[in-house]
Amino acid sequence: MTLDTLFDAAAKPHSKSVDSLTIRRPDDWHIHLRDGAMLRAVLPFTTAQFARGIIMPNLVPPVTTVAMAEAYRSRILAARPEGNDFQPMMTCYLTDHTSADEIEKGYAEGVWLAAKLYPAGATTNSAHGVKDLNAIRAVLERMERIGMAVLIHGEATDPAVDIFDREQVFMEQVLLPFLKDYRGLKVVIEHVTTQETVEIVRAHAPRVAGTITPHHLMINRTSLFQGGLRPHLYCLPVAKREHHRLALRRAVISGDTCFYIGTDTAPHTARNKESSCCSAGVFAGATALQTYAQVFDEENALDKLEAFASLSGARFHGLTPNSGTIELLRRPGALPAAVMVEDDEVVVFRGNEELPWSLGEVRP
Ligand code: NCD
Ligand code: ZN
Repeated sequence: MTLDTLFDAAAKPHSKSVDSLTIRRPDDWHIHLRDGAMLRAVLPFTTAQFARGIIMPNLVPPVTTVAMAEAYRSRILAARPEGNDFQPMMTCYLTDHTSADEIEKGYAEGVWLAAKLYPAGATTNSAHGVKDLNAIRAVLERMERIGMAVLIHGEATDPAVDIFDREQVFMEQVLLPFLKDYRGLKVVIEHVTTQETVEIVRAHAPRVAGTITPHHLMINRTSLFQGGLRPHLYCLPVAKREHHRLALRRAVISGDTCFYIGTDTAPHTARNKESSCCSAGVFAGATALQTYAQVFDEENALDKLEAFASLSGARFHGLTPNSGTIELLRRPGALPAAVMVEDDEVVVFRGNEELPWSLGEVRP
């Protein structure tokens, strides 16, 4: 079956009363797994939902070399639940000192699939990120030549820029000139949060794509202050106004292959979240597919879920979609409100809610 036939077959009409749905096993194109005890605690939630995933490199210290990425990949494989076949796809953390040869070596050897560009200071563990795009010109040109994608955290880093405008300012001041500069480079705008970014991604497809998180489809910036300050909903880019959330919903159900799944599951301990200076990140991994299914259902577009979750990302990265399936059930499922990590815990996004959709059988 060709990829196009798959898309046609995936877009079959559905009836509103459908109460179960079987889709190809999805991939998660944006995951923070951390390391050590945290890795062991959160990984089973991702491996229960996804067959493959792009692993973010913002560890301390960041994953900047082929050797570090190989070692991290081995630690992830060793932490998988018994018998699980999850495949981590690694990324290289770009700094002002990244070498083009190292980038090409990791790509040619199949160690990493893409490189992550954090503007220095934009988000959690991004202090070693790129301060000067000119410093990595040779790296970007090499990536353009070998067809390796750059994954961009698209927020302005000037502290004077209003936090709710940082994505838009980055797109205007950095991304649009960047796309003109590197016309052949494959670019993913990570965790799109605004209507304007949706339009930029669409206008530059197919070499540009955008990932969209479950939480940005569910919450807006007012949710952060609902009844009091909600640290567990704080992430970067921060949730925006309601009309942006609605634009993201239209984007994911559009069937446009330039938008695909990326949960940005970003666990932090409750101690770090419920603090006078709360870390940015939502632990979305445990309830991601259930949330996406609910969103597509609410938008009467369950027929578009498979393309978003299981086909479009693979197509962008030139990979074959997974052959197994996962079943989604319109049946409330119980989830833990939090997951223990050593003497602390990580609060699960929507873990305290009864979710209308739950996961059924996975067939590898
Ligand atoms: C992420 C993290 O915690 O590593 N936090 C977040 O708010 N999304 C980093 C990131 O993806 O920006
Ligand atoms: Zn992230």
